[in-house]
Amino acid sequence: MKETLEKIRQEALAKIDECMDMDRLNEIRVAYLGKKGELTQVLKNMKNVAPEDRPKVGQMVNETRAALEEKLEETKAKMAAKLREEQMKAEKIDVTLPARRNKVGHRHPNTIALEEVERIFIGMGYEVVEGPEVELDYYNFEALNIPANHPAKDEQDTFYISKDIVLRTQTSPVQVRTMEKQKPPIRMIAPGRVFRADEVDATHSPSFHQIEGLVIDKNITFSDLKGTLAEFAKELFGPETKVKFRPHHFPFTEPSAEMDVTCFKCGGKGCRMCKGEGWIEILGCGMVHPKVLRMSGIDPEEYSGFAFGVGLERIALLKYEIDDMRLLYENDIRFLNQF
Ligand code: DAH
Repeated sequence: MKETLEKIRQEALAKIDECMDMDRLNEIRVAYLGKKGELTQVLKNMKNVAPEDRPKVGQMVNETRAALEEKLEETKAKMAAKLREEQMKAEKIDVTLPARRNKVGHRHPNTIALEEVERIFIGMGYEVVEGPEVELDYYNFEALNIPANHPAKDEQDTFYISKDIVLRTQTSPVQVRTMEKQKPPIRMIAPGRVFRADEVDATHSPSFHQIEGLVIDKNITFSDLKGTLAEFAKELFGPETKVKFRPHHFPFTEPSAEMDVTCFKCGGKGCRMCKGEGWIEILGCGMVHPKVLRMSGIDPEEYSGFAFGVGLERIALLKYEIDDMRLLYENDIRFLNQF
């Protein structure tokens, strides 16, 4: 009997030691201590034990039961602790970990350039105005003294919505709309999107942006134009910047000019940036044509003014030394993040 009990005890303890989970532990409990368990079986066989030995055997059975129960409890507690520890580990939050930043996007180089130009002109007392992108042929061409047979009116260059309606090819129509609405003095810039039927390449896009400028008052002369645009160039490209005006032709200004700035990269010596020229063309400008003034309801005998038009992309490309206009429209975050 003693050996049987010892065997049961060893066996059970070994099984408990090997046991890996709660369910199995319960099975072991039932197998030994349950109603039909091995130890219970021994108790049931007491009747076969000699009466004088019964107290002794009874005590041994109780001891074995106690040992097994203790071991079971101990193992159960260990398992529970281990389980809890694993759970804690899995749910651990490292509060020292730097937080992930929310990506909130980025200003586009065009926007940065536009805000810079706006800042400069607002500083000189200009108003920022807007005009429609879908424009009447009248404002886009006719009121700007661009005759019906002008090559700019060709379908090759202009997107027509109908015979009389176009996608504006320039921001210059905003000049006319402003003069019609507002009495001089006028000092405004008009940034916006323009459209031309061009193939996409490194320097062309069917849709791009311009910033128009218009000043109308009494006694405005070409020297006002020069002084203003020279100041603009210095603010935009640095105080060393010099400007040069080359005669040009635009139907809505007389005289007309194109303005070059000294290359801000080489200071005018000639480099890759300015293609060895030392100068970079930056905008078109001129004194508002008397015919344009008259068509817009302003008396050219009383008032005069100047106008200019700048390509926004051109400024952005130059300022940030981007060599392909397409990069501005691809919205590749790796590119945009650099500005
Ligand atoms: N609208 C002209 C263009 O798209 C640019 C321009 C030139 C605007 C001279 C002006 C100006 O206001 O005076 O090429």
